[in-house]
Amino acid sequence: MDLVKFFHMNGGVGEASYSSNSGLQRMGIMKTRRVIEEAVSNLCLSNIKYPKTLVMADLGCSLGPNTLLVGSMVINAVAKTSQEMGLNPPEVQINLNDLPTNDFNTIFCALQERGKKLSTEKVSDVHSPPSCYFTGVPGSYFGRLFPTESLNFVHSSYSLQWLSQLPELEEINKGNIYLASTTPESISKAYYEQFQADFFQFLRCRSEEMMVGGRMVLTLAGRTTEDPRGEESYYLWRPLAMALQEMVSEGLVDEAKFDTFNLPQFTASPTEIMKLVEIEGSFSIDHVEIFDVNWENWKTNKHDNDASQVIETDDNDVGHAVAKSIRAGIETLVANHFGEDILEDVFMRYAKFLTQRKSKKEDQTLVSVTVSLIRKG
Ligand SMILES: C[S@@+](CC[C@H](N)C(=O)[O-])C[C@H]1O[C@@H](n2cnc3c(N)ncnc32)[C@H](O)[C@@H]1O
Repeated sequence: MDLVKFFHMNGGVGEASYSSNSGLQRMGIMKTRRVIEEAVSNLCLSNIKYPKTLVMADLGCSLGPNTLLVGSMVINAVAKTSQEMGLNPPEVQINLNDLPTNDFNTIFCALQERGKKLSTEKVSDVHSPPSCYFTGVPGSYFGRLFPTESLNFVHSSYSLQWLSQLPELEEINKGNIYLASTTPESISKAYYEQFQADFFQFLRCRSEEMMVGGRMVLTLAGRTTEDPRGEESYYLWRPLAMALQEMVSEGLVDEAKFDTFNLPQFTASPTEIMKLVEIEGSFSIDHVEIFDVNWENWKTNKHDNDASQVIETDDNDVGHAVAKSIRAGIETLVANHFGEDILEDVFMRYAKFLTQRKSKKEDQTLVSVTVSLIRKG
């Protein structure tokens, strides 16, 4: 299964779109604001000659409010640092990357409005705001996307846990759709090896594309435990496995199909990520942190880009909101494996099991790992 060919978040701005269902990731990105701003500020300050143009890339940008959120954080950091230095800010070029199947049109339509605002927000009475230029770059970040040494800053959030492909599995992951306590060790090992190969490939490509001293901030869905088969990595997927199992027992889903459905993602621990960065050798680690995004605090952001406007949801809505959010991300994977006919039913059942679990007060956090890296000389 080659993800590059069909994987994408749901497009458009409708009810089922990623644009309207990315509040959980948005909460995570907001928590990394300080790390992003510090990396950009240090990047500007560490240049002997203040940069004339800052070229950044957001890899796996998807579509919707989050896509422009990171750009606006970078622009603000550039503006603030320049103001403190008493210099005119550099121009900022923002390369938005995702797989070719991503709905880039929606991004560029939103940019007509929001992009203009991003580049004209007032910075100071003396200095002009940074001018910014947006480019869409379709392609897989497991390959080269940019010319040699052309990037100053790279960001990626909630994308790198997705593997380039499902690893070859020698055993059946009976009853599970991702790594769980009953998953055979050979499967867990195959997943880790695929993540390692992908992550090395990602780092290698970026090391060629980034300038010496360039900064890279990566946020991945991760885990705190050393064993990837811990409940922590599975609690989001267990209710989906339960929904599919229920449909198998009702004869609505073929058991053999269920047995061969496994999610092509790997939630790594900070230790694993740091070890791989060190072995690959092109980047030094400036900062690592691990944090939770808690579903208890789930708030659905209006997709008007205004982070201050939030709607609180009640208990029942949380199950539905999380199911919708996950559906916006993995609908293409489920449809590709089981066919489109089961989509409505399976995600209704998923919402039901999520809500039941919430009422049992089981763990409700999305573990996230952020690393801030510097391209070595
Ligand atoms: C959950 S979304 C995250 C979007 C956004 N960065 C955010 O934080 O809300 C993951 C994105 O990664 C993209 N993606 C997955 N694998 C990719 C690859 N190999 N190359 C480029 N983008 C990829 C998906 O298409 C999807 O848009």
